Amino acid sequence: MNYLITGGCGFLGSNLAVDCLRRGHTVTVMDNLSRLGSSANLQWIRSQGACRFVHGDVRNQYEVESVVVSAEPDVIFHLAGQVAMTTSLASPILDFQTNVAGTLYVLEAMRKHAPKCAFIYSSTNKVYGDLEQFHYLESHTRYDCVEHPDGFNEDVGLEFHSPYGCSKGAADQYVLDYHRMYGLKTLVFRHSSMYGGRQFSTTDQGWIGWFCQKAIDQASGTDSEPFSISGNGKQVRDVLHVKDMLQLYDAAVCSIDNAAGHAFNIGGGIKNSLSLLELFTVLNEQLGIQLRFFKIDARKSDQRFFVADISKAQAMLNWTPQVDTVNGVASMLKWIKELNDD
Ligand SMILES: NC(=O)c1ccc[n+]([C@@H]2O[C@H](COP(=O)([O-])OP(=O)(O)OC[C@H]3O[C@@H](n4cnc5c(N)ncnc54)[C@H](O)[C@@H]3O)[C@@H](O)[C@H]2O)c1
Repeated sequence: MNYLITGGCGFLGSNLAVDCLRRGHTVTVMDNLSRLGSSANLQWIRSQGACRFVHGDVRNQYEVESVVVSAEPDVIFHLAGQVAMTTSLASPILDFQTNVAGTLYVLEAMRKHAPKCAFIYSSTNKVYGDLEQFHYLESHTRYDCVEHPDGFNEDVGLEFHSPYGCSKGAADQYVLDYHRMYGLKTLVFRHSSMYGGRQFSTTDQGWIGWFCQKAIDQASGTDSEPFSISGNGKQVRDVLHVKDMLQLYDAAVCSIDNAAGHAFNIGGGIKNSLSLLELFTVLNEQLGIQLRFFKIDARKSDQRFFVADISKAQAMLNWTPQVDTVNGVASMLKWIKELNDD
């Protein structure tokens, strides 16, 4: 099949591109290479197989239409995006143009030139707002939600907070509406945090990788200064390893006729949920250290607890995460150490 991956040099996109190449698909990757690590990811993709790369920007309607026409896609993964809440607050117009206009351009190009194509969009759990309408139990290491102890399903009301929440949420709704109004085979994944190799983490995105790097720095003595964390460290997320994400993406393509028009909450589920403090315990055990850090104010609109109830994805896509957090964090540490040694 022909795959078109926008944002294909990012963390998710590069892993997906290589997985598709290994499975014998034809892959076109479009990316503007704006993200830290995206050029290195492009090099890595090229080292793994023959992939067509288009240097393009999803904010440019003409470039988007051209790539959809030339790729003749059976499947589009639309992963290009402005990904950081902090950047969205500093540059809301850039955030809007990338996430809302960019998504609409891809949808329109598909409607005109590839209407039979499957279209998969990466939305976010941030479309549910801060979730402060619920009650939380605070234990020594984490928060848990009283009303949704096993996580939130897709029936929770949408509430867009922050420019990032608004832009991802608007795009999420356009994607679903293109199924409703035009009958296109579109699907939305509302992701919790994902992590794994090819993720070049920053303080604004990829928290598992970011704190793995901090832990490696403290363990090796490269940086012995304590690092900061936002809030009290008890905020909880469910985390999904990239290997499980690849299984999910394949399952989505196989099930697109049934799953089109649906949104799915996606993460590691309650079994793979952990707070920052709990991550630090895992890192301390794996590296034989005692992490040093200090607390600063919580980020605005930060959810105290987000765990995806993944039962809809399990039932409709026949998919269940396999990588647990201890093994997943170990493989993340390994990838970062190899990167540092290069
Ligand atoms: N990784 C996560 O935990 C997570 C969680 C929720 C949602 N998502 C969503 O999944 C998608 C992929 O995430 P990721 O972690 O791979 O992010 P990433 O930042 O690693 O990848 C995004 C890619 O898009 C490219 N890009 C950015 N702006 C562009 C533009 N205007 N035109 C063309 N390319 C552009 C970047 O260069 C980068 O290679 C994003 O839309 C993100 O919002 C990711």
